[in-house]
Amino acid sequence: MSRQPTPPSTQAVQSAPISFTATTTTSTPKDRLASIQHHLTTQTRTIKMAASVFANVPAAPADPLFSLIAAYKADTFDKKVDLGIGAYRTDEAKPWVLPVVKKADAIIRDDPDLDHEYLPIAGLSSFTSAAARLIFGDDSPALAQKRVVSIQAISGTGALHTGAKFFSKFYPRPQNQKVYLSNPTWGNHVQIFENVGLPTTYYPYYHPATRGLDFEGLTNALRNADEGSIFVLHACAHNPTGVDPTHEQWEKIADIMAEKKLFPFFDCAYQGFASGSLDEDAWAVRHFVKKGFELCIAQSFSKNLGLYNERVGCYHFVSPPLADADVPAGDLCDVSMRIKSQLAIIQRSEISNPPAYGARIGDIVLNDPALFAEWKQNLETMAGRIILMRKLLVEKLKELGTPGDWSHVTKQIGMFSFTGLTEKQVMRLREEAHIYMTKNGRISMAGLNSRNVEYFARAVDKVVREIPE
Ligand SMILES: Cc1ncc(COP(=O)(O)O)c(C=O)c1O
Repeated sequence: MSRQPTPPSTQAVQSAPISFTATTTTSTPKDRLASIQHHLTTQTRTIKMAASVFANVPAAPADPLFSLIAAYKADTFDKKVDLGIGAYRTDEAKPWVLPVVKKADAIIRDDPDLDHEYLPIAGLSSFTSAAARLIFGDDSPALAQKRVVSIQAISGTGALHTGAKFFSKFYPRPQNQKVYLSNPTWGNHVQIFENVGLPTTYYPYYHPATRGLDFEGLTNALRNADEGSIFVLHACAHNPTGVDPTHEQWEKIADIMAEKKLFPFFDCAYQGFASGSLDEDAWAVRHFVKKGFELCIAQSFSKNLGLYNERVGCYHFVSPPLADADVPAGDLCDVSMRIKSQLAIIQRSEISNPPAYGARIGDIVLNDPALFAEWKQNLETMAGRIILMRKLLVEKLKELGTPGDWSHVTKQIGMFSFTGLTEKQVMRLREEAHIYMTKNGRISMAGLNSRNVEYFARAVDKVVREIPE
């Protein structure tokens, strides 16, 4: 039996600060009162002046993206342009509540049986199983063999954290083995893994000269990594570059990873946003599953359902293929069952159980055939507008004869484009033209619209002429 730590005695704690036992020899009650009063004031002053035990905590830098958003909001210039935040905007530069989400919301509001009871620890199961079918496909061999564990998470970030925490506790790895992240990657990846004690390093990904994929660098890194290394892969619409491997390149990546026994940890934050098709954007994940990998996926619904602040996501873990005879009749195969139990412990200790509203929206949209079909149209609207902006921007730059080759803007896909603008050019654009983007030259394509694309193109044209690379 484990021994409970003994709590400190209340009496000792209460009597510690001021002792009345060592009496002084003051003669009158008035003197004694003055003495006690003096004693108490000195004590109070001492307490007030004591330095915090956290006095040596260094100040952390502000989050660059959220600082950028704040700077944009504070700017009063009427033509200011926000190309920082990775959130969809309409052609009127407004956030978009998806029509299908409005319908699901109405269903929830009108439901007389709705209550605010806790969800189960693993979340809303009708939602998590639909989310699994969405990413793996209805005909997934992993789902058929009942070797997929799905647990609701606080959106993509929470799903990444849940997975990282699980790996930090259970992944059998040599000490100091690093988690490989693409160079560059979404800024939060590093701290999510390092916060749970998993050191990170980078694998080559982006080739600045071609503004495309550094396929040779990437495959060399895979070949040279220690067996069992974890590689975080963006399932589609790579953030920040907008550069994805082709199907053939994914096949090659999967072959090397299988050969070297590397562990794929997919981050899927943009399904449906890259091509407009949910199936096409799940191609890489499904290919790895078909190849028989043990893998995991952090899945976000922030972007594709436009539910940014509702924090809707899932963490899925896929165990290796089973012999037919070992496929369980029941819920999950043995190893998946055990993994699920450990994920539940992590969830219980961190958030106890996930929030319901966004998951209910996802549940309704994913499980209702008519609403699901409508969602696909909403996705096409968003992806289509972004694709159109890519075309318009390149056309405008061509018209202006802007120095440089801008064809990468239309080749890149998803929410972002890695323009190739330098930090100096980016800062000049912010100061002079009130155009806000991250320092690495990434622009959120959804921030462009038919009203500001020309203004942006002209500003880019000016800055690349005035500040050549
Ligand atoms: C690559 C990538 N992963 C994960 C996320 C997580 O997003 P969220 O926590 O809002 O779902 C983002 C958001 O921008 C992202 O770009």
